[in-house]
Amino acid sequence: MQKLLIKGKKDLTGTISISGSKNATLPILAASILGDKVKLSNVPFVKDIFTMLELLKFIGVESKIIKKKKLIELKKTNKKINTLAPYKLVKTMRAGVLVLGPLLTKYKKAKVSLPGGCAIGTRPVDLHLFALKKLGANIKIKNGYIIAEAKNGLVGARINFPSVSVGATENALLSAFAAKGKTIISNCAVEPEIIDLINFLRKLGSKIMISGRKITVNGKSFSKKKIYHKVIFDRIEAGTYLIAGALLGKKLVIKKIIPKIIKCEINMLKRMGVKISVKNKTLLVSKNKKLKKINISTKPYPGFPTDLQAQLMVLMTQAEGISKIKENIFENRFMHIPELKRMGAKIEIRNKTAHIFGLTKLTGAEVMATDLRASVSLVLAGLVADNRTIINRIYHLDRGYEFLETKLKKCNAEIKRI
Ligand code: UD1
Repeated sequence: MQKLLIKGKKDLTGTISISGSKNATLPILAASILGDKVKLSNVPFVKDIFTMLELLKFIGVESKIIKKKKLIELKKTNKKINTLAPYKLVKTMRAGVLVLGPLLTKYKKAKVSLPGGCAIGTRPVDLHLFALKKLGANIKIKNGYIIAEAKNGLVGARINFPSVSVGATENALLSAFAAKGKTIISNCAVEPEIIDLINFLRKLGSKIMISGRKITVNGKSFSKKKIYHKVIFDRIEAGTYLIAGALLGKKLVIKKIIPKIIKCEINMLKRMGVKISVKNKTLLVSKNKKLKKINISTKPYPGFPTDLQAQLMVLMTQAEGISKIKENIFENRFMHIPELKRMGAKIEIRNKTAHIFGLTKLTGAEVMATDLRASVSLVLAGLVADNRTIINRIYHLDRGYEFLETKLKKCNAEIKRI
């Protein structure tokens, strides 16, 4: 099994180009079921994207990958569409459940494996099903599968989510695409990745309006137009490298981003004392030896993202005083803490809040990655720690970070895969 070996304490200087967003590409790929011919650029070639392409191929959507240009071209095969998403393809990647909406709205039926829980929490899909039922779907759960049917097609409705969910909002949007009449979705998630999906659906001809947490979709029939879409940048990857720069940056440039989308993250880091200057689509970040403590709570966008909590925690170990992180989105998202403690961090969890004692010296150790974002927090800890850190189970990292070692190495980090 592959491991990452990091020799810490190297200043970071150079330029990192941010890849396209994995979390935007996944629902857009699911949405390609609704189109005829689709061309996507700025696609990050990470494991989850390949899993989704495999699922699409199983369903009957073929893809051609042009890696050098970061392009994917998708089109239907001549085979009959298969409205099944099997367990083996959904179990490793929850986003597989996003094919449910497009299949149901277009082919009036779908059988999709329940994705099950994952390391960071139970992660149910009740809100996805709530939305589909409102649109008139008949849903049964049998043998670990969601079996959904809408014999006469879905019909527009009001969907008022009891709580905010990214995936459920995406499935609702995808299903409303071809539902008869108007759908009004309220209390929805408005993450930049959802806005990117909406922009894609608009290119497919859908009329969608957004006002705060309310989205109105006017259902449409399917067009045969060829669609081109450039995927938005990965704001979590950008935030991760911004934190790397806050830890060790001498003159670290982060490019190909839209600063206003990560305003919350930039402001949080500035409040801690990190030196960041913003210029067009670029950030320049340098470390400040004196960092201040901060308290944050994870929240749906535009709040501080849960996907960046583990990385920020590493920075907090280097700040003065006791910083706090309250995790509001997932019930079990502090699994990086025991591993960070093995590297010398002093962290206590009280209720849903982690108390991070600052100015601790981290020392290299052999640690184990538990999920995607936890893994990258260990990389950041390894970069700032004394001596050598070995990270096991890095397949988690490969699910979401494109060219991680290459990007860091180019900026002077000592990191290699063994
Ligand atoms: C997406 C992101 C993930 C991110 C998360 C929150 C993708 C592929 N993944 O995941 O990286 O951490 O948003 O920003 O885009 N919930 C329910 N019932 C449901 C659905 C969700 O109770 O039917 C709960 C979840 O357990 C969680 C909360 O709602 O506690 C938010 O989850 P959700 O926003 O749905 O996350 P995902 O879409 O799975």
